[in-house]
Amino acid sequence: MPKHFLMCRPDYFTVEYAINPWMHPEAGADRDVAVRQWEGLKAAYEELGHQVSLIDPIEGLPDMVFAANGALVVGGRVYGARFAYPQRGPEGPAYLRWFTERGYPALEAEHVNEGEGDFLTLDEVVLAGTGFRTDVAAHQEAQEYLGRPVISLTLVDPRFYHLDTALFPLDGRNVAYYPEAFSAGSQAVLRRMFPDAVLATAEDAEVLGLNAVSDGTNVVINAEASNLQLELKRRGYEVIPIQLSELRKAGGGPKCCTLEIRGEN
Ligand code: ARG
Repeated sequence: MPKHFLMCRPDYFTVEYAINPWMHPEAGADRDVAVRQWEGLKAAYEELGHQVSLIDPIEGLPDMVFAANGALVVGGRVYGARFAYPQRGPEGPAYLRWFTERGYPALEAEHVNEGEGDFLTLDEVVLAGTGFRTDVAAHQEAQEYLGRPVISLTLVDPRFYHLDTALFPLDGRNVAYYPEAFSAGSQAVLRRMFPDAVLATAEDAEVLGLNAVSDGTNVVINAEASNLQLELKRRGYEVIPIQLSELRKAGGGPKCCTLEIRGEN
């Protein structure tokens, strides 16, 4: 089943402020390299048969490339993002406008939430992260608007500040995750819900290997996450390694650059 993704070219990408432990403004980042690597990700999706739509980047919003944070789209309905840090604040309305201009029903969120950075959608439930960015009240707001059960999970390691840095859906029913990124109670919830999950190592997590995108057959994943790639192959997945080292300097990987537009079903 082909997917529909929204992406944002990193034309104005920089690392000029630090809102997560990956970001070092004094070291900066190379925008041309970032654009080239991002083009590789976009091409990989298109080669897999997925559709990629683009939102225009806005000057002065260097993190806008991380489209996953722009909204959560389930059943054709758009739950808008409300960013935790003022540096990214204007991205929420910009992404919401992209959807409303195209006729999508949308909700401007009352509570702080960073879109698909902290909401990952499975067939029956939406997994939702809290602890660093998204307010747990937003989990309830999303459940009410989308009519899907939302399961709250607590993140405890500042390096894994969004749920999508610590866990990704392999398909509609199973996930891969790094247990140590979660509170003890949330680890117990994950073990109970996903007894057959792929467990990632610290080395995989430290190269943002969990920030991957699976279509159920193919997994687009950071090139350096070698243990995780081996385990995925062992489970029968097709692995597509992507080099996104420049965007990792802002704390992002393949999934961060990718907002899935889920239609009605
Ligand atoms: N610099 C961005 C931030 O800290 C990176 C966002 C990465 N996106 C994600 N979905 N994890 O907000």
